Amino acid sequence: MALVNTKKMFEMAYSNGYAVGAFNVNNMEITQGIVSAVAEEKAPLILQISRGARKYASMSYLRAIIDVAVEENPDIPIVMHLDHGDTFETCKQCVDDGFTSVMIDGSHQSFEDNIKVTRKVVDYAHDRGVVVEAELGQLGGIEEDVVGVEDVAAHLTDPDQAIEFIEKTGVDSLAVAIGTSHGAYKFKTAPTLAFDVIEKIQEKVPGYPLVMHGSSSVLKEFKDLINKYGGAMPDAMGVPEEAISKAAKMGICKVNIDTDLRMALTAKIRQVYSETPAEFDPRKYLGPGREAIKQMVKHKLHILGCAGKAAECA
Ligand code: G3H
Ligand code: 13P
Ligand code: ZN
Repeated sequence: MALVNTKKMFEMAYSNGYAVGAFNVNNMEITQGIVSAVAEEKAPLILQISRGARKYASMSYLRAIIDVAVEENPDIPIVMHLDHGDTFETCKQCVDDGFTSVMIDGSHQSFEDNIKVTRKVVDYAHDRGVVVEAELGQLGGIEEDVVGVEDVAAHLTDPDQAIEFIEKTGVDSLAVAIGTSHGAYKFKTAPTLAFDVIEKIQEKVPGYPLVMHGSSSVLKEFKDLINKYGGAMPDAMGVPEEAISKAAKMGICKVNIDTDLRMALTAKIRQVYSETPAEFDPRKYLGPGREAIKQMVKHKLHILGCAGKAAECA
């Protein structure tokens, strides 16, 4: 099966109360770990590439890796998605490069400018069969290329604005700020998400697919390994998995996960370095990292509810 866009996936996800995992890829091992997990669990897949990933690995390498994944897994619908495209030009480039889905993140611009740039990307992408995700409201975060906000609560998505935004842009899905943030330090106290924002939007536009960024859980297993083997992430805290499962049943059709992949890989590399300090063969630490990613993603697919759903999304 060739790369697909998110249309069918989101239709099925919405009507059956699950979400599709959108996993960030930066190299071969991360991609292989994710893809072998979805292949075993027979789940639909969104592989997403950030501007940082394009800068790090180059588009041609990432594209070649994804092409192999698609070729080797004909029964798995796979989307190649641009994560946090910052300008019309970046999105246009990605549409031209063969992405089947692009995100234009105008969330740091004024409401009017966000509408304007999103509309422009939608017009260009739709003419070429590519779907578009936009963002309204602002997430916190510490990612290299994604600017975050400190006061998360003050920047939640306004449901009324969301309706107007969807109508004026014709965008296919909308990332909403409901209290999550990028990176490994999402909450200082007990995690809370604004589920009422999702509910209010769904009341007005039932059936419309919403997207949740910053959805890593910061799994205890990997946090503990990192801290045990010389790392320093004592205060890391993510989104509880129950909250993710709940959101997936409420109209969140795409759940973005990057930090959990990074932590799984880092934890295993640290463990091998510490336990076998004489080791210098990269396969001996990247291999366990890849396997940890695979097992972690398999688990996530059940949290999201999309395990076993590949066929209905194809
Ligand atoms: O949304 C942020 C993703 O985790 C991508 O991060 O820009 O450092 O690749 P990055
Ligand atoms: P995390 O940092 O929670 O993994 O979020 C990733 C993300 O939203 C990518 O767009
Ligand atoms: Zn994001």
